[in-house]
Amino acid sequence: MALKFPIFLDAQSTTPCDPRVVEAMLPYFTERFGHPASRNHPFGWEAEAACDAARAQIAKLVRARDPKELVFTSGGTESINLALKGVAEMYREKGNHIVTTVIEQRAGLDTCKRLERQGFQVTTVPVQPNGLVDVDDIKKALTDKTILISVMFANNEIGTIQEIAAIGKLAKEKGIIFHTDATQAVGKIPVDVEALGIDLLSCTAHLMYGPKGVGALYVRRKGPRVRLTALIDGGGHERGMRSGTLPVPLCVGFGKAAEISAEVMPEESARLAKLRDKLQDMILSNVEEAYLNGDPERRLPQNLNISFAYVEGESVLMGLNKETALSSGSACTSATLEPSYVIAALGASAELAHSSIRFSLHRFNIEEEVDFVGRRTIEVVKRLREMSPLYELAKEGVDIKSIQWKAE
Ligand SMILES: Cc1ncc(COP(=O)(O)O)c(C=O)c1O
Repeated sequence: MALKFPIFLDAQSTTPCDPRVVEAMLPYFTERFGHPASRNHPFGWEAEAACDAARAQIAKLVRARDPKELVFTSGGTESINLALKGVAEMYREKGNHIVTTVIEQRAGLDTCKRLERQGFQVTTVPVQPNGLVDVDDIKKALTDKTILISVMFANNEIGTIQEIAAIGKLAKEKGIIFHTDATQAVGKIPVDVEALGIDLLSCTAHLMYGPKGVGALYVRRKGPRVRLTALIDGGGHERGMRSGTLPVPLCVGFGKAAEISAEVMPEESARLAKLRDKLQDMILSNVEEAYLNGDPERRLPQNLNISFAYVEGESVLMGLNKETALSSGSACTSATLEPSYVIAALGASAELAHSSIRFSLHRFNIEEEVDFVGRRTIEVVKRLREMSPLYELAKEGVDIKSIQWKAE
């Protein structure tokens, strides 16, 4: 089978929309265009029913008791903002302390920074070298002023899956609200808000083969009933928590994506994990000094993150980007290229944090694509190393760290 280029192996940035999702959405742009809050005619009733059905599909996927526990938002970023700021403002009288982790996505970290500027205290717990948070560290960080624990379900760079059940249990024991950014987990691995003791859960459609621009926040209604201050005021939609006309086609697409994910999850996870393992074995057995980042077991089935010593992640991507879409953990901010803060948090050196590459697979990848990317990655890394004076020195047995570089 002829391969189609470029090959997309960057599915933790976004996923392609499933054609079944697009098909479900289409009528809601044209003939079924009603406003879901129009209570007095069939156009409105039809739109409201479609949004409610979508809500029920998402509720089923995350095992929420009641579809009303899901609030539609514009995506993961907004859900996280609503959860963190909404709890902070609502429970301010009770306390001003939040516990989170160093490897949260920027939406979580930056929201916490803003809350700190507003007088809240945030404790950011570290992770262990495998990317897992030690639940004891969270326990030690709690004070009588802690109102919220926020820990991501699965990491966007290294795929590591946190011990959510243990954190949920701890939060329950202490009577503290527990939020999880499950943007990367929902639709990929089983998520059960009841069994895991989750009070607030953020998710997004575009990472589970749904459309961009729609997400949801699960807000527990019973045991405890979580209350939030809204970020957006207006017509009081979404039970007052998120005003604004619902994007009906996007909600319908999100619901359909949830329904499909629930159906295909066991088979799809097994298939992608097998392909991922093949890619991992291929690279690690052919490239020396290539290191797997994150826990080898507790990780998303479609994620693979490897650091290649002596080469810059960005250079590897440049060598591959005509034919393959991958991602490095580094973020290009203004003129500087910052190493991945997630890989750095594992205790890796700055060099290894600069040299990480994330391979993330999706529903429509085929084995031949994965084989191609594996082969090309090996070639590119080897070629870059041949041009690297540092690699040359290392091969001659020089301890790179001991070199005294002459100052300019
Ligand atoms: C872990 C994590 N949280 C939050 C987000 C933000 O979600 P959205 O793009 O829907 O705003 C992402 C997006 O990739 C993510 O990976």
